Amino acid sequence: MSLKKRFLYLFFMLPSLVSAEDGSQLWLRYVPVEEHIAKQRQISLANNHESALLAKQELNRYWRGTSISMHLDKKAKALKEGYQIKSDVSGIRLTAAEPIGLLYGAFHLLRLQGAKVNMQNLNIEEIPDYDIRILNHWDNLDRTVERGYAGYSLWRWDELPNTLSPRYEQYARANASIGINATVLNNVNASPQILTSNYIQKVKALADIFRKYGIKVYLSANFSSPKVLDGLSDSDPSRKEVQDWWKTKVKEIYQHIPDFGGFLVKANSEGQPGPQDHGRTHADGANMLADALKPYGGIVMWRAFVYNPSEQDRAKQAYQEFVPLDGQFRDNVIIQIKNGPIDFQPREPFTPLFGAMKHTAQMIEFQITQEYLGFSNHLAYLAPLFKETLDSDTYARGKGSTVACITDGSIFSAKRTAISAVANIGEDTNWTGHHFAQANWYAFGRLAWNHQLSSEEIADEWISQTFTDNRDFAKPIRQMMMDSREAVVDYMMPLGLHHIFAFGHHYGPEPWGDVEGGRPDWMPWYYHNADTVGVGFDRTTTGSNAVSQYNEPLRSTFNSIETCPENLLLWFHHVPWTHRMKNGHSLWEELCFHYDRGVQEVRQFQKTWDKLEQYVDEQRFSEIQSKLKVQAKDAVWWKDACLLYFQTFSKTPIPYELERPIHE
Ligand code: GCU
Repeated sequence: MSLKKRFLYLFFMLPSLVSAEDGSQLWLRYVPVEEHIAKQRQISLANNHESALLAKQELNRYWRGTSISMHLDKKAKALKEGYQIKSDVSGIRLTAAEPIGLLYGAFHLLRLQGAKVNMQNLNIEEIPDYDIRILNHWDNLDRTVERGYAGYSLWRWDELPNTLSPRYEQYARANASIGINATVLNNVNASPQILTSNYIQKVKALADIFRKYGIKVYLSANFSSPKVLDGLSDSDPSRKEVQDWWKTKVKEIYQHIPDFGGFLVKANSEGQPGPQDHGRTHADGANMLADALKPYGGIVMWRAFVYNPSEQDRAKQAYQEFVPLDGQFRDNVIIQIKNGPIDFQPREPFTPLFGAMKHTAQMIEFQITQEYLGFSNHLAYLAPLFKETLDSDTYARGKGSTVACITDGSIFSAKRTAISAVANIGEDTNWTGHHFAQANWYAFGRLAWNHQLSSEEIADEWISQTFTDNRDFAKPIRQMMMDSREAVVDYMMPLGLHHIFAFGHHYGPEPWGDVEGGRPDWMPWYYHNADTVGVGFDRTTTGSNAVSQYNEPLRSTFNSIETCPENLLLWFHHVPWTHRMKNGHSLWEELCFHYDRGVQEVRQFQKTWDKLEQYVDEQRFSEIQSKLKVQAKDAVWWKDACLLYFQTFSKTPIPYELERPIHE
């Protein structure tokens, strides 16, 4: 390092020098307060609940401001797990209804301190938008992680319950710092083994660590568990023996984990067993589990991710299966719906099931792990994607019925509300594989707490806590983050294209992919339908008619090629190559421009990053630089592969002003 660089490094990075630079500290890089400062202020708390004590501990260690008094006010029920922060000359008063609210409030104060906010006249009230803010781990019991790109699972099942990795507590603290209060430990493609007595002991060990951080444990349950684990003749939910099996199992779980949250279930989906195997409905299956959990306050999150190879457009199937069941689910069942109707694509319209079941609680499932966004190799800040869905208007009760309002209970009242996301966390030192992927974990937590926050605000918070708040760094990095998801859409699947990934691993492009005898709905051509006339999936009233699942005015807007938003054009229409886009380009030219723009943007990210070397420690600088190189290479791969393939149909040259595929 040059002398100048060394100086600048010391100057800007002094706070983070006290912490590891391998990313293991996430956004929790508070600098311990010096003793003489600590002596000048008091952190008082008249309560010894373990979560409240943790709040005190965080503030004792890191708070450099005036005195803070913490209070529990049981009457302030409306705050739920939230808190109030008020300050005057005498100091700061932090009030919560629940002990965990004090811990959330403590982290809020530390965020304010990091952002150098004036603490003199604080008058803050925070109430979480969702009751349950939950991560879904797709972790298998052999420690592989389905669609996980950050190493093996954090859960060391072979060592549990006797050996407890320090990372369990670090994980819980990180989640608490952003308000996440629940976790599903195992894959939705669930091994029945998780419900054996042996594993329940292991789960208990984790639950015991997480509890004081306000985190409840849930498990994915395999619907065939009664048959597989205890040899019942089948797992038909209408049979008393099966119902009793679940009741006994649930009782056993609660004996060990009194605050167990409940089950997440993937049933009759992608080969998983479910009630339909026995001629029963999703409601029959979900209700049986709900009845077993009810006496203990547990819930069932029943997934709506269902589709089968059939004449029906895959995008329509969840709606078709679930809407007729509206009103039949118990009040401790929530239907968990992916944000889009296909599967976590770089861009999808929202799933039309949101708002379509007026008597059934619904929750959203996002994916933080980047299964379809370049794994942990590509920088893609996902807050804009999450916000795009949450802010989408379903028109279920007229204008303003956004997905956020449908799911947070403000339109159709719900007993409890929830929001979930598939985690991107693994055993990697930096937790998420890509340092910037930490921002997506962070963003999910912050939006689950407050869906009104903007992507920019969340990025600013994350950048200043994770790197530095120096404007010369924070501003261009925020821009890079804000542009990053759209760049991925551009170089992978612009204009509403979707699911043209390589079969199975979903990393690279394979629009030409075809497997003899394979399921058509797993083949890319099923989705892009390219031919000499044009490209795209006709979901209009004269096509698959998926548009009809949306409320007006969306139905008509999506149905017309003239009014359909161009970023979803090929999702809803089979569009002629010669179609004139709003900017005058033909569809083919526009496709080329988008692919090229994606590539150029990633190159710009590289330049932005390289210029900021002086503000970043060496390790994270070079690790991120390497990832950006991979991303830039992949972006070119995507562009060339897709354009050369689609050109075999469009039979038109790639515009000469664009970077053209180079054949070696
Ligand atoms: C996708 C993903 C699978 C996953 C499934 C699900 O299809 O590729 O790995 O199991 O979603 O959400 O259930």
